[in-house]
Amino acid sequence: MKFFIDTANLEQIKEAQALGILDGVTTNPSLMAKEGITGAENILKHYVNICTIVDGDVSAEVIATDFDGMVKQGEELAALHPQIVVKLPMIADGVKACKYFSDKGIRTNVTLVFSAGQALLAAKAGATYVSPFLGRLDDISTDGLHLISEIRQIYDNYGFETQILAASIRHTMHVIDCAKIGSDVMTGPLSSITGLLKHPLTDSGLAQFLADYQKGN
Ligand code: E4P
Repeated sequence: MKFFIDTANLEQIKEAQALGILDGVTTNPSLMAKEGITGAENILKHYVNICTIVDGDVSAEVIATDFDGMVKQGEELAALHPQIVVKLPMIADGVKACKYFSDKGIRTNVTLVFSAGQALLAAKAGATYVSPFLGRLDDISTDGLHLISEIRQIYDNYGFETQILAASIRHTMHVIDCAKIGSDVMTGPLSSITGLLKHPLTDSGLAQFLADYQKGN
């Protein structure tokens, strides 16, 4: 299972990268705005900065909502760095743009996916990644994990190579449940990754080992 961090915060990306388990980064316009990154040129520079920190894929989202605009922006983003994956919204023109980019060998991440049908369309359009937003479904009392398992079943039935990128992860249990279902990738905040480290028995066990060592040394 690949671990992506869902942020545009460079310090948090560095912290996750330093753990040695980071496979990539996802961003979106809200996450860029949260870090105060505004203006086309600054946004493009920020993507390149992220690519220099991590070794893996970095999703960069188009703002256009029409086919021509998405193609223009997506080509500009893809040309920035070989690690860039063009992130496209799950709308009709997004599906067309996904097909266009996959035919050209440019990698894509189809985002804002909330149903199995949308995930099926993304796979048929040749998406590299599909991003079902499980936390946002949970927020409206709908089972986000159920969607991940439906997509897993559909993709396995037909051998689709599109990778399921479980997005909108909120906590460690989401990560563990997605791993059980067989999600290819998770993307979440730093806390959803570092939270996996924690267990009180690890802390008390280590404290005991160190105390016992001190007694004899
Ligand atoms: C995915 O690529 C999105 O950036 C993200 O996971 C959305 O998460 P949120 O629902 O916490 O905003």
